[in-house]
Amino acid sequence: MQEMLLLELFRRMREHFPALDRENNGGYVFFDNAAGAQLPLVAIERTTEHLTRRNAQKGTVFTRQEKMQQSVYAMREGCADLMGTRAERIALGLNATSLLALIAHHMGRDLGKGDLVLTSQLDHMANVAPWEELRNRGVRVEMIPITPAGGLDMAAYGALLEQKPRIVAFGWVSNATGTLVDVARVARMAHDAGALTVVDCVAGAPHLPMDVEAWDIDFAVCSAYKIFGPHLGMAYINPSRLGGWQLGELVNQEAGRWGLGTSFAAKLELGTQNHEGIAGFRGTLAYLEMLGTAAAANLSLATPHTRRERLLTAMQTIGAYEQLLLTRLKRVVSEIPGAVMYGDPAVPIIAFNLKGKATGDLARHLDARGFEARTGNYLAIPSMVDLAREFDGEAVRVSLLHYNTPAEIQRLSQAMQSVQP
Ligand SMILES: Cc1ncc(COP(=O)(O)O)c(C=O)c1O
Repeated sequence: MQEMLLLELFRRMREHFPALDRENNGGYVFFDNAAGAQLPLVAIERTTEHLTRRNAQKGTVFTRQEKMQQSVYAMREGCADLMGTRAERIALGLNATSLLALIAHHMGRDLGKGDLVLTSQLDHMANVAPWEELRNRGVRVEMIPITPAGGLDMAAYGALLEQKPRIVAFGWVSNATGTLVDVARVARMAHDAGALTVVDCVAGAPHLPMDVEAWDIDFAVCSAYKIFGPHLGMAYINPSRLGGWQLGELVNQEAGRWGLGTSFAAKLELGTQNHEGIAGFRGTLAYLEMLGTAAAANLSLATPHTRRERLLTAMQTIGAYEQLLLTRLKRVVSEIPGAVMYGDPAVPIIAFNLKGKATGDLARHLDARGFEARTGNYLAIPSMVDLAREFDGEAVRVSLLHYNTPAEIQRLSQAMQSVQP
């Protein structure tokens, strides 16, 4: 019963995405969602409306400018409700990579010879490379390895923590294999060892509810364009353990002196933001709130009263529907003769190869049958070079979101029947 209701709810939600219309996408099945999502109409309309009627630059007093500034404040509040925190702990930015680089840059000022930073083999390079660069300053950087099954090796992590790292940088969900990390547990272990935590939430955020305060982490980043929005990034900064770090000291002195506000976020939120993207992502959040309200009504869930509650209900319901997709997708891929699947996906992101077939040929086979799926290593290089060693670290990745359907998975099954080894 619940399954039928979920299928019907998300069939209707798909209608909000013009890019998925046959006439707009030429009938392709869009399975490249972990690279970036399509947008609901309201987000597209709000972006256009901003550029048509509200375009103004910050830093003065005229009314249109003030409205634009209010929109930026409202965006921080919206992102805070999405991530599970409050607005003054949010910084907006270009994308996740640049925000992580800025965080590493600032935290790196306090690190030097002999200090240890841990990264994770499960991560995208965005949360690996900026830490590795600190080697220039004599910082030691070690990687928490993965197990042969593709999960984070918690025993090895425990052993590395005995060396008392200053920072543990890790991710919530692998963008390559959909593998889920227990963020609260990894963070608790890091804090017990005296380290700060920097969490890449990019790949998990479109699939599952986020709760950064409950996880008790120190930094988190997400990309709006993976969460059905325009191209911009957002960071969460928890100041409570930053005492004694220069980022904490500098923000209060410099930002205060230049009248830029004294929040920790101000140090990361540089220059002029993507105002039209902000307007658009506020539209995305309105769509998600609508989804949360509709889900509560249709599935007889508790009525959500606040925006945070509506967003939580939306993301929980998305998570439930995506489990239906994941079960079907795993079955279809595992039934393909010779298929090798990597990791243990907890969200519908599956990377796979076919024994004896070059990854590129498999991708072309799918393209010829109307599928947009990614091939390569998706910059999850540390795990992919290991897991897909026999295929030069590459695999075909199919990644689905809540607007994908069981019928599209069935179409994948048919397309794979004609594949030649
Ligand atoms: C897990 C993960 N982290 C970081 C990034 C980089 O995000 P951005 O393009 O916002 O810099 C990606 C992009 O694919 C990703 O999947």
